[in-house]
Amino acid sequence: MAVPDLPPPHPRSREFSDEAARHALAALPGPYLPWSSSAMRPAGLVAVCNDIVVNGRRRVVELGSGISTVLLARLLNQRPPLGGFRVAAVEHDAGWARWVREQLNREGTGSQVVIVHAPLVPHPLAAPGLSWYDAAALAEGLRTAMRGEPIDLLLVDGPPAHGAGHGLARYPALPDLRDRLGPGATVVLDDAERPGEQEVLRRWERETGLHFDRRAEAAGVAVARLAGEGPVTGPWHS
Ligand SMILES: C[S@@+](CC[C@H](N)C(=O)[O-])C[C@H]1O[C@@H](n2cnc3c(N)ncnc32)[C@H](O)[C@@H]1O
Repeated sequence: MAVPDLPPPHPRSREFSDEAARHALAALPGPYLPWSSSAMRPAGLVAVCNDIVVNGRRRVVELGSGISTVLLARLLNQRPPLGGFRVAAVEHDAGWARWVREQLNREGTGSQVVIVHAPLVPHPLAAPGLSWYDAAALAEGLRTAMRGEPIDLLLVDGPPAHGAGHGLARYPALPDLRDRLGPGATVVLDDAERPGEQEVLRRWERETGLHFDRRAEAAGVAVARLAGEGPVTGPWHS
């Protein structure tokens, strides 16, 4: 798909505030959602929404489900063709997976979104002492959700990585899912300002040759594009 050229961000661009982002997200109306500090910051979520809109994303995989899953489904559901999108949201917590699924069903987007319950278990790509999503549950969930089509947007916001010693908890995402990404796909890592995620980004860049745009860190996310056309679409102002 042809993608428009956007001007590069102004070198002295200021941070896109969460307040501005809340206004932007008001375009995704629906029942009240229980925001908490577990959810992505609004500005980071806007960076992801921008990528969906500007680059026409339709095949989305999110690691770590929640409010973001519900809002991304609302956005994708607004965009033609009706129902022409698929989301796989991978979730380790069975109770939280149930809540997100019920919310999507209440809003009428449940048939397009597969909440993949994948417990955290020892994993060959995980750092010593850490675990990652169960490989069989993940593979089956992605097969059901993506139906063999490549991922065009990967959002990494799980597993939880804030606890002591868990800084590298999200490292396996890119090496594990790299071969499922389509040309020009976007990869977003949330909480990119934390030391653990900074190390994950360094490892991913060293191992894949990808460059993660840290300008987007102002919104709590780092964004990379695989080879292919189109801009990285952070929520920057000039
Ligand atoms: C960083 S959170 C993911 C947040 C999600 N991407 C969002 O922006 O809403 C990582 C994990 O925390 C848990 N979680 C997220 N929101 C939660 C909430 N409001 N209450 C309890 N657990 C939550 C889920 O298990 C999730 O996989």
